[in-house]
Amino acid sequence: MEIDVFTLFPEWFQWFSAQRHVHNALVAGTSLQCVNFREHTELSGGQVDDTPFGGGAGMVLRVDVMDSALRAHYGIDPVRLREQRRVIALVPGGRTLDDRLVDELAAEPALTLLCGRYEGFDERIVEHFASDTISIGSYVLSGGELAAMVVCDTVLRKLPGALGDERSALEESFSPALGGDPEYPHYTRPAEYRGWHVPEVLLSGHHERIGAWRRERSRERGEHRDGARSR
Ligand SMILES: C[S@@+](CC[C@H](N)C(=O)[O-])C[C@H]1O[C@@H](n2cnc3c(N)ncnc32)[C@H](O)[C@@H]1O
Repeated sequence: MEIDVFTLFPEWFQWFSAQRHVHNALVAGTSLQCVNFREHTELSGGQVDDTPFGGGAGMVLRVDVMDSALRAHYGIDPVRLREQRRVIALVPGGRTLDDRLVDELAAEPALTLLCGRYEGFDERIVEHFASDTISIGSYVLSGGELAAMVVCDTVLRKLPGALGDERSALEESFSPALGGDPEYPHYTRPAEYRGWHVPEVLLSGHHERIGAWRRERSRERGEHRDGARSR
């Protein structure tokens, strides 16, 4: 898979790319490239934004700058780019990222992620260059970089070679293997600690009973998710 991230802060991704599962995915053939769209502005002082028409607080990322950056990187009119690859604008009000969407993205050969800043994108960037919008949740980050990392992290761990044990990604929270429910609880040694005992069934060696117990816990967690414990 080829992932390109358009950002004003490419250095943020140096740390991210060095993390083990990301590094493993890169070694296994995925590419993660950052493009600093500030390098593609023709305005003085590296200007990439401007005040909003109609007034209001903050600065808006300019459509002409994003146009130049995408055009320079891909060598085509960005309006056509989304016919060739998924071009995702990260916005708070976009389609919420969930395991289904992650699976969808992991099946793509190439992704382009556009990170907003300040007040966000000139809407024409979203309308004419993006194929989709993604939100990582109903809250506002200061920029799209952390959201892009969340998208990359969740997608990359689905790709072969990223995780030490690929089975980890098959049966985990929200996966089809668990019917979309959160994962069941895990325990390890010691089997008893401060009087807290590991459920007996997990020590039984009886795989069928263990499987049924885990499925049931998973289902329960799915049912009680909205009232999830806060302490
Ligand atoms: C300060 S935010 C802009 C918020 C925008 N004025 C609004 O109220 O929706 C700057 C950038 O951060 C990114 N961002 C913020 N929250 C996000 C979220 N929940 N999911 C994805 N991207 C987000 C977007 O790229 C956005 O353009």
